[in-house]
Amino acid sequence: MANDGRIDPWSSDQSTDYARIVDQFGLSSVDPTSLPKPGMLHRRGIVFAHRDLDVVVGCMNRSDPFGVLTGLMPSGRMHLGHSMVIDQVRWFQQQGGDITVTVADLEALATRGTSLAEGRKTAINEYVHNYAALGLDPDTTNVYFQSSRPAVQRLAFTLGRRTNLSEFESIYGFHGETNLAHVQAPLVQVGDIIHPQLDDYGGLRPIVVPVGVDQDPHLRLTRDIAQKTNWFNVKPRNDGGLTVAISLQDSNMSQFGVSDGGNVDMGTRMAVFTEIEKAVSDLGFSDIKANPKHGTLEIPAATGDDRSRIRMAMLAIERKMGGMGLMPPCSTYHRFAVGMTGDKMSSSKPETTIFMDDSVEDMSRKVKRAFSGGQPTVEEHRRLGGDVSRDVAFQYLQFFFEKDDNALEEVKTEYESGRLLAGEVKQICIDRASEWLNDLKEKRDQWEDRLGEFLAEDAI
Ligand code: TRP
Repeated sequence: MANDGRIDPWSSDQSTDYARIVDQFGLSSVDPTSLPKPGMLHRRGIVFAHRDLDVVVGCMNRSDPFGVLTGLMPSGRMHLGHSMVIDQVRWFQQQGGDITVTVADLEALATRGTSLAEGRKTAINEYVHNYAALGLDPDTTNVYFQSSRPAVQRLAFTLGRRTNLSEFESIYGFHGETNLAHVQAPLVQVGDIIHPQLDDYGGLRPIVVPVGVDQDPHLRLTRDIAQKTNWFNVKPRNDGGLTVAISLQDSNMSQFGVSDGGNVDMGTRMAVFTEIEKAVSDLGFSDIKANPKHGTLEIPAATGDDRSRIRMAMLAIERKMGGMGLMPPCSTYHRFAVGMTGDKMSSSKPETTIFMDDSVEDMSRKVKRAFSGGQPTVEEHRRLGGDVSRDVAFQYLQFFFEKDDNALEEVKTEYESGRLLAGEVKQICIDRASEWLNDLKEKRDQWEDRLGEFLAEDAI
């Protein structure tokens, strides 16, 4: 928790009040029962919030295409904290999503001074290698580098026109001394997040970005910017239903029939509305009230659920008319696991986390030293029981190593009742983690020579 009473989403403090983060950031809570085959991190409340996840779930249910975008900083070694996003990416992939992985090599250069060559090596040998071992399917995974994808950089420029320095100051705390490479990095990230919907990269479809809640400012910025470019808005209508309204901008006046003098050419305007009406009726709506002159079209029977399909149809029309037709990204947010020392996990502090290639000995030592939720004496422990909310070993079972919900529940019950001692929970954690690390190592060996399968054409 930050000093001013606001929540610090960077904190890995387990007392972090996630309900308040949901409130403060304007997120929606995740309801695991609304998901097809919810994954372990959903069932355990670790993926706790989202924006527009229902849009993607709708695609899953209808077997419509959707994409997933994730990004990695190619600096330092990959550790457990990084693996959480990949667990979610794998789940989305199993539900039919195609995967784009950003190697944030420009960002690593800008913010950490990592050279592009170094970043490339780390990305492939350390991250892509472990992603493969964690079970991503190369057939629908594309890894690319920010530095070698001009479309992303082009978007950073194009969309950069929709924001300004004041907004960057207030979102990121930039000031007069801020290095300009730092200023460019978030715009490149906007490009990363948006570009999978370009025609060359899979085309118009919802894109979901699973992240830690610290990345939400980027998501919010990207959503705002995407919405600003839209030529049509789809909004709730006062008397129920939805309204489609055109959004006049310098770039679309002539397409909407507005002349330099401000007059509306009704022929052009009518042609646009004929197209919108057709698209809406193709979606199954018959009651449509068009008002071309005002630039609105009302669909009284449409529900909130219909909104994303109608929006997609409008974006497709916008693209045909020459606009960008960009969807705001969807996103999910996961909690952070506590660092093993009570600090937050960090590659630069090896004792705070377990690395993907840690030896069983190193891992065991860290677990044994980790913060426990046991009582000071055995006698007290038997009487009062352990506190799972403070116990690192338990939480690592919960976040990473114990896939079986019943087994986890049993450890919890036994520990809380005092029958299991803190040292015994640590031993269970060490046993599960050993299996996990050994399995990962075996898989890494299998993928050793096949990492090229994950790389996009422009990454080879
Ligand atoms: N900024 C992210 C980080 O600090 C890396 C990143 C770059 C990213 N582009 C992205 C993450 C797109 C998610 C989506 O780790």
